[in-house]
Amino acid sequence: MLSTEKVEWWKAIVSSINDGILVIDHEGIVRLINPEYTRITGVREEEIIGKPLHQLRPGAKLPNTLKDGKCRVGVYRKEGNREYVVDMAPIILEGEIIGAVSVCKSLTEVHKLTHELKKKKQKIEQLQRAIDSLYQAKYTFDQIIGKEGGLKQTIQIAERAAETDLPVLIMGESGTGKELFAQAIHNRSNRRKRPFIPVNCAAIPPALLESELFGYEEGSFTHAKKGGKIGLFELANNGTIFLDEVGDMPFELQAKLLRVLQEQKIRRVGGMEEKEINIRIIAATNRDLEQLVFKKLFRQDLFYRLNVIRIEIPPLRERKEDIPKLIKTFLRSSLRNILIGEEVMKFLQLYDWPGNVRELKNAIDYAVCMAEGGEIQLCHLPKWISELEVEPKQTNRTLREVIEEAERKLIRETLNRFGNGIEEKKKAAQALGISLATLYNKIKKYHIDPNEDRF
Ligand SMILES: Nc1ncnc2c1ncn2[C@@H]1O[C@H](COP(=O)(O)OP(=O)(O)O)[C@@H](O)[C@H]1O
Ligand SMILES: [Mg+2]
Repeated sequence: MLSTEKVEWWKAIVSSINDGILVIDHEGIVRLINPEYTRITGVREEEIIGKPLHQLRPGAKLPNTLKDGKCRVGVYRKEGNREYVVDMAPIILEGEIIGAVSVCKSLTEVHKLTHELKKKKQKIEQLQRAIDSLYQAKYTFDQIIGKEGGLKQTIQIAERAAETDLPVLIMGESGTGKELFAQAIHNRSNRRKRPFIPVNCAAIPPALLESELFGYEEGSFTHAKKGGKIGLFELANNGTIFLDEVGDMPFELQAKLLRVLQEQKIRRVGGMEEKEINIRIIAATNRDLEQLVFKKLFRQDLFYRLNVIRIEIPPLRERKEDIPKLIKTFLRSSLRNILIGEEVMKFLQLYDWPGNVRELKNAIDYAVCMAEGGEIQLCHLPKWISELEVEPKQTNRTLREVIEEAERKLIRETLNRFGNGIEEKKKAAQALGISLATLYNKIKKYHIDPNEDRF
C-alpha cells in the first residue's frame, strides 16, 4: 500500500489535470475523482467515492476495461444535458490489472465554441459581402464613348484584357478616362462581384503609403491603431486593385510592390506572417514611365511586370471626332432639356482640351448651369475656353485678364509635365520660379485640379 503522503501527492497531481479523471480499483469501486470530473459530469466526491461504479453510473463502460484489459478511446456519453467523451485504460501493476481509469473531456464547451464559431463565420461572410458591395466599380464599357471613333482599338485591347487576369498598364494624360477603363475592365472580368479598390499613389503621403497598402500589426509604430489595420491589398483580395499614378510611387516601395506581384503574398508592416492573396493589378499613369525608368526613378523590373497588357488612351485633341458624342452624352446626363448650337459645337471641336474629357465634361456642366434659355451659347462656356485658346479677343481684355490666363495655362502645362505628387509639385514650382506655397495658391485660385475627381 502507498503511504498517506504519497496518496496525497498523487491526488494533488490528479486534481491539477485539466481533464476529468475517475479511477476504480480491481473490484470496480470508485477510488478517486478529480474536480474536473465533477465539473463535467456533475457527480461529487461524497456521492461516489467508495461505491461500485456500475451502481451509480449504470451505463459506465469502465468495468468492462477491468474485465478485458482493453483500452477504449473516444467513447461518447450523454447524461442529461451533459455531453462528454471518455478514454479508458486499465491500470496494470506487475502484469495484473489492479484497476482502471477514465479520462473525460466535456463536449458541452466544444459545442458552445462550435456554435460561436459558426456565428462568427456568418458574420465574417456578411462583412465580406458588405465590403464587396462597398467597393464596386460603377463604369462599364457601354459607358465609354468613342467605340466607333477614336477609341476603337483602345477599347478592343481593353476588352481582351478583361478576359484575363494579367496586369494592365493604362497610360494617358490626365482626364483621358484611365479610371473609367480600369473600372470597365474589372466589371467585365470574372472578378466583377469582388472589390475594386482604387489607390491614388500620388495623393497618399509617401510615409503612409506602405502601411495603407500592406496594413500593419498592432504596436508596429507610435500611432498604430489597436488591433492593427487591414491594408488595401488585403481588402482587394479576390478583386482588383487600381494603382493610379503609379509613376509617383516612392522608389523603395516599388520593390515591395514587385514582390507582391511576383509572389502574390503580403506581409503587414511589423508583422511576421505572410498571407496569400489573389489580386488583379491595374496600374495607370499620366507620366512617361519609360522616361522615368531611363532616369532611374522607376524600377525597370517593376515596369516590365506591370507593362504586360498596355493600354494607351490618346488625348482628346487627337480624336476630336468623339467630341460631339461626348457632349451629347454629358448634356443628356445633366437631365436638363438643353440644346447646343452648331457654332458652339464647332468651336468646342477646335479647342485642344489640355484637360481632356474631364475638362470637356466640366465645361459642359458649367455651360448647362450658366445657360438660361434652352440653348448653350458661346458666352456660357468657361471664359478661358471661349476667350483664350481658340479666338483670342485681345481687344477688350484687360492686361490683368491676359496675364492671368497665360499664368493658368503655363501652370497647367508645367503640372502636366512634372506630375501631381508633392515632390513633383516642388519641382514644378522650381521650374516656374515660384515657391511651393504660391503654386498651391494659384492652383486653388485657378481651380486647377490635376488630381482626380474620384468617382
Ligand atoms: N471615353 C469616355 N467616355 C465617356 N466619359 C469619359 C470618357 N473618358 C473620360 N470620361 C469621363 O471623364 C472624367 C475623367 O475620367 P477619368 O477616368 O477620371 O480620367 P483619368 O483617370 O485619366 O484622369 C470622368 O468623369 C469620366 O467618366
Ligand atoms: Mg485618374
